[in-house]
Amino acid sequence: MTATATVRYHDHHPRSASLCDEILAGFAATPKQTSPKHFYDAVGSRLFEQICEQPEYYPTRTEEAILAEACDEIARLAGPEAPLLELGSGASRKVRLLLETLQPSRYLGIDISREFLIDSTRRLAADYPWLEVHAACADFCRPLRLPQAFKRAKPLAFFPGSSIGNFEPAQALDFLRHLRRLLPDGSGLLIGVDLLKDRDRLEAAYNDRAGVTAAFNLNLLERIRRELDSDIQPRRFRHRAFFNPVESRIEMHLVSPLAQQVRIEGHTFSFAPGESLHTENSYKYSPEGFLRLAERAGFQGQALWMDAEQLFSVHFLRSA
Ligand code: AVJ
Repeated sequence: MTATATVRYHDHHPRSASLCDEILAGFAATPKQTSPKHFYDAVGSRLFEQICEQPEYYPTRTEEAILAEACDEIARLAGPEAPLLELGSGASRKVRLLLETLQPSRYLGIDISREFLIDSTRRLAADYPWLEVHAACADFCRPLRLPQAFKRAKPLAFFPGSSIGNFEPAQALDFLRHLRRLLPDGSGLLIGVDLLKDRDRLEAAYNDRAGVTAAFNLNLLERIRRELDSDIQPRRFRHRAFFNPVESRIEMHLVSPLAQQVRIEGHTFSFAPGESLHTENSYKYSPEGFLRLAERAGFQGQALWMDAEQLFSVHFLRSA
């Protein structure tokens, strides 16, 4: 890395009190549940990068191939001078392709995982000396604010990886409406959305043979032990992921095979044998179904790309 590589950092990171409050509320709920955003501490973000390399997990490599094919057209649709902002930037790998094609003067990465965000935006700043790099640590389940430099021009917002699938459809609609209000009229939104497909293919992607997804799921309990005062034992839980066709979503759970009690910050929670903690939903959409949702939020569909097997879709939407 060069000594001159600098990142302008904007901190909206949620306080650790919100982890504690949200975990306690989730364990007290019926059924027990937690938000998938809590997976992404530094260890969880690294495990997620490993998931993306598993042979069964098709979304990442499929989306990358779609973007490689479409990037010239994306640049044309975004227009010259559009600053690029990325939601849930993670390791910021996919965005390199867009940066190289669009050559924007400014980039903003937004992610909930602070160390990970700082690390990956520093690497971008070092590799692209011509680029003004901004990083905002934020939970995008909450209202976002854009740095001044990104409000003036019409930015291209990039929301890759089908992270939108973590929201229930009603929340996804709220989130898209919020994004619509945040972005100046005429801005582009490039969004990756995982497609509905046969159950075996879907379930394999969340039950990789190497056990990385299981480790990612169980890391939530490790994180509770690391960051909160708790006696919870990850070894006493099992990873479970399955497709729910009625809701059109993959569900991830941590199942307690035996009856047990766990203590978190002075509160005690009982698990009955076979009871689970619901840790994630990952909704799958048809191209038309997602477009209808985006239109209800005030976006217009401008382009849609899919791979030949129709595993994954990338939409170019415009704030209408
Ligand atoms: C980052 C939410 C898109 O749902 O596929 C991967 C997260 N969870 N394996 C997904 C995830 C388990 C991922 N998203």
